[in-house]
Amino acid sequence: MKLQLLIASLLCTAGIHASQVHSSTHALSETQEGIKYIKMLGGTLKSQLKEQLQADPSGLSAIGFCTAKAQLITDEVNAQLPDHAKVRRTSLRTRNSMNKPDTKDVEIMKKIEESIKNKTATAMMITKVNTKEATRYYKPLIVEAACLKCHGENISPEIQAVIKDSYPDENASDYTLGSFRGVIVSEIKKR
Ligand code: HEC
Repeated sequence: MKLQLLIASLLCTAGIHASQVHSSTHALSETQEGIKYIKMLGGTLKSQLKEQLQADPSGLSAIGFCTAKAQLITDEVNAQLPDHAKVRRTSLRTRNSMNKPDTKDVEIMKKIEESIKNKTATAMMITKVNTKEATRYYKPLIVEAACLKCHGENISPEIQAVIKDSYPDENASDYTLGSFRGVIVSEIKKR
């Protein structure tokens, strides 16, 4: 397996809406495509989350939104991608079992987690991995203050109740600021 670290300036904080990303792909390299799809999903989820948290800082309406819409938004972004590409989120500890990692994801995420811990990698580093069928691009997600409302150690009882109701396999709490939360992965099928 070839592991290659690329630095890319793609902090998804710019609030890029999927619709604002140009849909033409013919002029892009594979790596540019991989990064673009990560930005599409990351930017869309993040800007929607931000909007929700601004409207209700308790996080209660935001978690209702995430519960109802996270999978739908992921499907909608994927519907905009060419057939040879897909994008998703996963983690070593998932909340929604639909986001569970495969063996390759686990292998790569363990390495990324280690590099984040010993500060040899940052959230801006993309890991490129070749599998038999596809090239995968992994972008780390780091726990920020806003994430703690729903993934931290002191989640409010109201939010905890929603999590308990909606996610029987919940395993994505008790994270601390700055820790490795998971990844956005894009895959470009070999053609
Ligand atoms: C308002 C509550 C809330 C906040 C704030 C929040 N999340 Fe989540 N997060 C959720 C819910 C609910 C899910 C499950 C979504 C689904 O059904 O796919 C989730 C899922 C995820 C997943 C997918 C893997 C899994 O566990 O299923 C990742 C990765 C993730 N969140 C990272 C973050 C990061 C990073 C932040 C901060 C930038 C953040 N979350 C902020 C509620 C939240």
